Amino acid sequence: MSEQPISGQAIRSFDLESWIADELRRLESALGSWVAPGGGVPAELAAPMRYSVLDGGKRLRPLLVLAASQAVQGEPQAALRAACAVELIHAYSLVHDDMPCMDNDVLRRGKPTVHVRFGQASALLAGDALQALAFELLTPQDGSVALALQGHLCGLLARAAGGQGMAGGQAIDLASVGRSLDARQLHEMHRLKTGALLQASVLMGAACGPAGESAKRALADYGAAIGLAFQVVDDILDVTADSQTLGKTAGKDAAQDKPTFVSLMGLHESRNYAQELLSQARASLRQSGLHRTDALEALADKLVHRAF
Ligand code: IPE
Ligand code: IPE
Ligand code: MG
Ligand code: MG
Ligand code: MG
Repeated sequence: MSEQPISGQAIRSFDLESWIADELRRLESALGSWVAPGGGVPAELAAPMRYSVLDGGKRLRPLLVLAASQAVQGEPQAALRAACAVELIHAYSLVHDDMPCMDNDVLRRGKPTVHVRFGQASALLAGDALQALAFELLTPQDGSVALALQGHLCGLLARAAGGQGMAGGQAIDLASVGRSLDARQLHEMHRLKTGALLQASVLMGAACGPAGESAKRALADYGAAIGLAFQVVDDILDVTADSQTLGKTAGKDAAQDKPTFVSLMGLHESRNYAQELLSQARASLRQSGLHRTDALEALADKLVHRAF
């Protein structure tokens, strides 16, 4: 954070990239030490687990956890565990999403997908184990996270990952191949399959510190707006970016005849809609009355304007 005098006034400017670099150092080191570090987990399972989580990914969800925790001056140890837990659920969802029975993808995070590299059974089991590990991380037995907070974080993550969240959204996604959804149905699918976990990232970070009900409601609105914006942009990039930039196969949605925001409203309107959601997210942050929301605001902007 630096103070820059402009037109005689001091305005605050937030350096997102150096904030991200600092947070990623802590995050990557925590993931490296918590994901099947050797010993307890059989080597044939540890390898696909580490392969799918480490060395890749934008880490947007854990960064949102840490940014939300910062906004409420949350407890850093709890926030770090929550950040890693969300990333593990996300990584597991990608491993399964890429399997032949789902999107049948061969490229993820610039590498062969887990089932291509290790086989389908290993991919299935690595996903299962990552999901369980997420909840293990949230329930340390060394007293470093208060029991009430452990329970709260587990509840938020479970609801976002399960049938009323990511898994439910994935079920709708698969059932919608070759069908055209109306706007309401598409919103619902995206809210569940992607929005729920992004919103939970924000709520879990916020749970790590003291915040009033109205601030939490405003953060929930922020999370819903960026969660939807994220998948709108994912749908846009599937059409506009190339596989090398994305680190995953471009053009898959049209090839697999999936309903997306681009197929519903076209590229131009989809871009406008992402901008509109970004404005909604910013307005919610202002309504929160919280002061240290620079990282949340800058992350929302990055998420909508990303190139991959
Ligand atoms: C991709 O998520 C899957 C979706 C939910 C659309 P990300 O774009 O966040 O993937 P990584 O984590 O950076 O690889
Ligand atoms: C995946 O959506 C969402 C989850 C993994 C829950 P997509 O199928 O659009 O994600 P990509 O494009 O393969 O990353
Ligand atoms: Mg999919
Ligand atoms: Mg996919
Ligand atoms: Mg996609």
